[in-house]
Amino acid sequence: MIQLMAASSSSNPVTICLIILALGTIHISPQAEAARAFFVFGDSLVDNGNNNYLITTARADSYPYGIDSPTHRATGRFSNGLNIADIISEKIGASEPPLPYLSPQLNGRRLLIGANFASAGVGILNDTGVQFLNILRMPTQLEYFQEYQGRVQALIGREQTKRLIEQSLVLITVGGNDFVNNYYLGPSSPRSRQFPLPKYVKYLISEYKKLLMNLYKLGPRRILVTGTGAMGCAPGELASRSTNGGCSAEVQRAGALYNPQLEQMLRALNKKLGKDVFISANNGQMHLDFINNPQSFGFTDSKVACCGQGPYNGVGLCTFLSNLCPNRGLYAFWDAFHPSEKANRIIVQQMNTGSTRYMSPMNLSTIMALDDSTT
Ligand SMILES: *[C@@H]1O[C@H](CO)[C@@H](O)[C@H](O)[C@H]1NC(C)=O
Ligand SMILES: *[C@@H]1O[C@H](CO)[C@@H](O)[C@H](O)[C@H]1NC(C)=O
Repeated sequence: MIQLMAASSSSNPVTICLIILALGTIHISPQAEAARAFFVFGDSLVDNGNNNYLITTARADSYPYGIDSPTHRATGRFSNGLNIADIISEKIGASEPPLPYLSPQLNGRRLLIGANFASAGVGILNDTGVQFLNILRMPTQLEYFQEYQGRVQALIGREQTKRLIEQSLVLITVGGNDFVNNYYLGPSSPRSRQFPLPKYVKYLISEYKKLLMNLYKLGPRRILVTGTGAMGCAPGELASRSTNGGCSAEVQRAGALYNPQLEQMLRALNKKLGKDVFISANNGQMHLDFINNPQSFGFTDSKVACCGQGPYNGVGLCTFLSNLCPNRGLYAFWDAFHPSEKANRIIVQQMNTGSTRYMSPMNLSTIMALDDSTT
C-alpha cells in the first residue's frame, strides 16, 4: 500500500512534467521560426536594463530616461525611447526585443527570442569602467551567453539549441568607453601614461579580436560589430574639450585610428574563417553625417544634448533636475553621450540598407535575404 502510493506519487509529477514539456515544445516551435534569435553584447549604447539589477552608478532607471517609451517610464535604456538593439530587433521581425539577461522575466518561451547581455559602462578592457563598480564586463557577458545556452538546452534540447544559436543574429557594440571612460578620463589616465594613442589602439584591437573569437566559438555565425561613433563630437566631449565649438580633434583622432583597424581585423577574421561571419558597421560615419548636416536629417541640433546641463548640456548626468528639450525628435543627442531614439533610427536604417561606405562586407537586409535563402 505504502509502496504503491509512493510509486504513483513519484510517477505523477514526472508524467505531468513530460506533458508540460510536450505542450511547451508545440507552443515553442512556431515562435522560434517567426524570427531568428537575437543576442546583444556591449555597453550603454545597447544595454536595455541589465544594470538595473546591479550595484552600479551607470544606470538609466529614472526620469527622464524612457520619457518617449510607451509607458513613459525609464527602462534602463540610455535613450529617450529605444536604442539601436531594439530597433534592429524590430527590423528582423522579432515579436519583442530580447530581455536583459538579468531580468527575472527572461524564462521559458521568451528565452527563444534571444537575450541582451549588454551592460552600461563596460569596455573591451577589464579596467574600463572600474569607476562604475559592479558591471558585466565582456568576459562575464560571454559566460552568461554560455549559461543561457544551457538553459535553452533544457527547454528544446541540444540540437535545436545549436541551430538556434547558429541561425541567430548577434550585435556587439563596445569600444567607446575604452576611450572616453578610460584613456581620456581625467588629465592623465594610467592607460594614457602607459601607451601613446596608436599603441593603445593596437592593444584594444588585439584584445577585441580575442573576445570576438571567443564569441564565435560559442556558436553564432552572423555577428554585427559596430565601430565607435563620433566620440569627439558628443556633447560630453564638446563640454570638456572643445575650444572653438568643433569636435575634439584628439578624441576624433582616436576613432579615426581605431575604426579602420577594427574593420581590417574583421575582414582578416572572415578570411581566416572562410565566411562572412563578422559584419562591420561604420557608426562613426553614420554619426558624422548628421553632425555635419543635421538639417537634412530633420535635426535642429546635433551639438547640444536634449537632457543635461552646462555647455552643450554636456556636463554631468541627465536627471530630473536637468534641462530637458520639449521635442526629442529634433535632437541628435539625447544626453551627453547617447543618441536620441530618432538618431538611433537613422543609424539602424543605414545598418539595414546602407551602402558599403557604411556596412562591410554587406548591410543587414542583404544578410537577412542571404540567410533566408539558405535555410
Ligand atoms: C579580463 O578578465 C578575465 C576574467 O574575468 C580574464 O580571463 C582576462 O584574461 C582578462 N583580460 C585581460 C586583458 O587582462
Ligand atoms: C545593401 O547591400 C547590398 C549589397 O552590398 C547592396 O547591393 C545594396 O545596394 C545595399 N542597399 C543599399 C540601399 O545601398
